[in-house]
Amino acid sequence: MEKLIRRDLRSFGGYSAATSPDTLDGKIGVETKNIIKLDANENPYGCSPRVQKALAKYSLFHIYPDDGQERLRKMLAAHVGVEAERIVAGNGSNQLIDLLLRLMISKGDEVINLTPTFGIYSFSTRLCGGTLVEVPREDDFRFDVAKVKAAITPRTKIIFIANPNNPTANLAPAKDIEALLDTDVSVLVDEAYHEFSGKTVLPLVGKYDNLAVLRTFSKWAGLAGLRIGYGIFPPEIAAFILRIKVPYNVNAAALIAVEESLKDVDYLMASVDRIIAERKRLMAALKKLTWLRPYPSQANFILCEVLEGDALVLHQKLQAKGILVRYFDQPRLRNCIRISVGKPEHTDALIKALHEIGGR
Ligand SMILES: Cc1ncc(COP(=O)(O)O)c(C=O)c1O
Repeated sequence: MEKLIRRDLRSFGGYSAATSPDTLDGKIGVETKNIIKLDANENPYGCSPRVQKALAKYSLFHIYPDDGQERLRKMLAAHVGVEAERIVAGNGSNQLIDLLLRLMISKGDEVINLTPTFGIYSFSTRLCGGTLVEVPREDDFRFDVAKVKAAITPRTKIIFIANPNNPTANLAPAKDIEALLDTDVSVLVDEAYHEFSGKTVLPLVGKYDNLAVLRTFSKWAGLAGLRIGYGIFPPEIAAFILRIKVPYNVNAAALIAVEESLKDVDYLMASVDRIIAERKRLMAALKKLTWLRPYPSQANFILCEVLEGDALVLHQKLQAKGILVRYFDQPRLRNCIRISVGKPEHTDALIKALHEIGGR
């Protein structure tokens, strides 16, 4: 069968996802349950207790969920304050990135990626047969509007902006996003970390018909494992995405989890506030280590350049102590690690381990 595989995918490397603690079972001297997972920007406080109670009581798991997502879309619309016609939910917001690209990209169409950024944009563009046009970010990880505009051609279909950006954790100024929206190319603003930054482009939704906004319940609501995200699109695009998605892409458990999370926003936002407070404490502690350079963060993670020593070795030494962080070695992210903000005890364990390991 191998010869039937698409030629353009034969050298495809796939997406390198975060390590699952289960896969480390027996390989490090720390029990799986004691692993401190700071590598995937998950929420250490977990989901709302209402979600767990409602799922335990639910008796209709044998029935398919509503394919058209009607109730779900209404709930999400009320939550963000836009019309339900604009909303589509996905199996994680990742699925909506894939669906939007499938809808728009024919072979050879171009997608502008502001690198370094979230890996799924390039992954899904390649899967859809699109051509990636990379515009590297500046030294402070902002993008230069003039350079992005210069990269636009008649084949440009989408510009991706993660805001805050992953893994650099910085926000783009609203005026820079508007400048790109004024080009008429479709702009997807991925607000996966919006709740940790307090900034959003949602007020621009009615003004621009080339704007799409992505949100997720993975981070602020602690539902990464249930896979639920959503997008706010121009209504006609939302209708098309609903047409091309696989049936029942949002499962019944995720649907219940959204409903209960939206009844418990105050509880969940209190966890977000704790994470924001811990981000400040973690940043202060990291700054004291002269061999690390932490970058400012508007998200629930901190990118650090390792100034002395090898980031891969550091990543491995932390892993041996049961602390998982993300390691990067790519242009502009040479010798870097990304640390998710955990609970105070996670910060304490991490900083203790970093002192023990030292910068060499
Ligand atoms: C910028 C960005 N967008 C989207 C996602 C994925 O979200 P989801 O879990 O909803 O697929 C992530 C996850 O790390 C992310 O960093």
